[in-house]
Amino acid sequence: MRIMVTGGAGFMGSDFVRYLAKEHPDWEIINFDVLTYAGDLSRLNEIASHPTYHFIKGDITDPEAVDRAMEGVDMVVHFAAETHVDRSIMDASVFVRTNVLGTHILLEAARKHTVKRFHHVSTDEVYGELDLEANEKFNEESPYRPRSPYAASKAASDHLVYAYHTTYGLPVTISHSVNNYGVYHFPEKIIPLFITNALEDKPMPIYGDGLSARDYLYVSDHSRAIHLILTKGRIGEAYCIAGNNKTNGIQVADVILAATNKPATLKRFVKDRPGHDRRYALDASKIERELGFRPQVNFEEGIKRTIDWYRNNVEWWKRVKSGEYQKYYERQYQLTK
Ligand SMILES: NC(=O)c1ccc[n+]([C@@H]2O[C@H](COP(=O)([O-])OP(=O)(O)OC[C@H]3O[C@@H](n4cnc5c(N)ncnc54)[C@H](O)[C@@H]3O)[C@@H](O)[C@H]2O)c1
Repeated sequence: MRIMVTGGAGFMGSDFVRYLAKEHPDWEIINFDVLTYAGDLSRLNEIASHPTYHFIKGDITDPEAVDRAMEGVDMVVHFAAETHVDRSIMDASVFVRTNVLGTHILLEAARKHTVKRFHHVSTDEVYGELDLEANEKFNEESPYRPRSPYAASKAASDHLVYAYHTTYGLPVTISHSVNNYGVYHFPEKIIPLFITNALEDKPMPIYGDGLSARDYLYVSDHSRAIHLILTKGRIGEAYCIAGNNKTNGIQVADVILAATNKPATLKRFVKDRPGHDRRYALDASKIERELGFRPQVNFEEGIKRTIDWYRNNVEWWKRVKSGEYQKYYERQYQLTK
């Protein structure tokens, strides 16, 4: 089996690559990643010398590079994307280029090379927001109502993936996951941002009233779910992946403050994100029923593991938090102390 993972140097892609290397030591894994600010090969140090692992530095918006890399590939698992909502609000153009155009270029190559599976890693954000108080959850049949440029670019890419299935018979699957968190998470996202700021005695910027709620999934559970979809999922189907918790910004801050023994004064309420989705939640009964997937790491355990990891890997996050990140952070939150 030869499997091409796009965006394998990113947070979730690297977890999946590490998972695959353990689960299938005989599979050829091609990590195709251009290494944007969010990509970092040190996430893959532990498998870098594995004889069946190969890294190709390439851009999914470059048709020739994609075509060359897909030669002889059986399966594509497509993680590569621009992923940060706040950055998509500042400038959506790279989101459209990478997430929409890049996905189209991959689909064309997958069609040409007759891959046996094209798995597209999508998000719950394509369905839009839910009321904070409602019990409703989205599922695979919910209509698309993306609200941020990021979500809209992912929705557009999902539509292309479905269209390549119905029009050309490309064997696709799609997954919609809730927010992931865990080790090696880039510290622009809320959980690693709050952990690393707490460890540095810096304020935690909480958007708006801090009540917007998310469901968090530990990243290794996500990798397991993707593997199940690849091996047992039905072609042409989408699967929602959930962590089954409801946690708001204040609660994230409080859990991290308690675990790091830092004062509540580090909580700092900042201007809300424009169009901030109030709540996301997914009904994941399809993947549970059809593929037997259930998350194994609950939020309490996952956050503990994550905080421990950031405590023990200060060098990693200090490095990724320097340079370009610092300018982004100051512009975004206007909090320099
Ligand atoms: N993080 C989440 O909570 C979450 C939840 C649901 C779905 N997703 C989806 O999962 C996927 C991975 O998310 P993540 O958080 O690991 O992202 P990330 O931002 O950590 O990593 C993205 C990776 O893609 C690479 N990349 C970006 N543009 C590229 C290009 N043009 N060519 C090749 N590589 C490129 C980057 O270098 C990086 O390694 C994305 O498709 C995202 O939409 C993320």
